[in-house]
Amino acid sequence: MTRKHLLSIADLETDEIDEILRLTDSFVEVSERAIPKVPTLRGRTVVSLFFEESTRTRLSFETAAKRLSADTMNFSVSTSSVKKGESLRDTVETIEAMGIDALVVRHASAGVPWQIARWVDAPVINAGDGWHEHPTQALLDCYTIRQVRRAANGGNRGGHAVEGHSALDGLRIVIVGDVKHSRVARSNVLAFTRLGAEVTLVAPPTLLPPNLTGWPVAVSHDLDAVLPKADVVYLLRMQKERQIESLLPSLREYTAHYALTRERARLLSDEALVMHPGPMNRGVEIAADVADLPRSVITRQVANGVAVRMAVLFLMLGSAGSRAA
Ligand code: CP
Repeated sequence: MTRKHLLSIADLETDEIDEILRLTDSFVEVSERAIPKVPTLRGRTVVSLFFEESTRTRLSFETAAKRLSADTMNFSVSTSSVKKGESLRDTVETIEAMGIDALVVRHASAGVPWQIARWVDAPVINAGDGWHEHPTQALLDCYTIRQVRRAANGGNRGGHAVEGHSALDGLRIVIVGDVKHSRVARSNVLAFTRLGAEVTLVAPPTLLPPNLTGWPVAVSHDLDAVLPKADVVYLLRMQKERQIESLLPSLREYTAHYALTRERARLLSDEALVMHPGPMNRGVEIAADVADLPRSVITRQVANGVAVRMAVLFLMLGSAGSRAA
């Protein structure tokens, strides 16, 4: 991968996604060692610049950087001079002046990672911008599906594509829930379809984007009808902080029609996977016990997230293009 920043799945060619997924295999192997660390990024500094809450993505990037022996800096808005009124531009230029090699950015507003990429020389990785994109979440989700698929087919851990076929060719993936406010859904629709999957969105009309022109998806409002044919059911978090309740008669009604309950999970084929990006609202979009079924790969998604982010950091900082190169 030769591009400087990772801002969007839309920017990536299929072979660039494949390259990241192939490299992730090596870092899964590193992560399974007794000492899961390699010296690849010794002397480099990776900054986490999170203007919005995160557990998985922040810790995953930090763990990935440390396993590559990079130094890490964590910026916390609540204890920073942003609270005294310092602007976003002054904040990032101040951090860059300390000598850094990459910025991992999460922000509640769409487009902020692009803006930061115009202000700094260091590579910028989008760790989630508003409702727009969450590219490393999509990469770890693609990796997890192909890993499980290949293991089921008796092949290698990473589930590499057979030459001439894309990694998720022919898979039917159902994405359920609050698509309208979901950066995960936007990145995943792009990544899943780029790798050959057929995607169906299932949501109440008020939780779909007003215009789906150009989205390579089917749409349904009947979860029970699509579940029997699904290879993957991917549940989205109900984003209560985005005033979602006003778009629904009630959360109880949402759960009645769109949650993956134990009864609905029985409609799935034996091989179908259950996925969720986290954090989950157990009892809302997914029943508590369904999240813990063997077919649920939610914790595997988290584990693979570290290896995928190691691959991304390696590709962006491990060779030309960084300060220390
Ligand atoms: N999936 C995800 O982005 O989780 P966090 O908000 O905890 O990072």
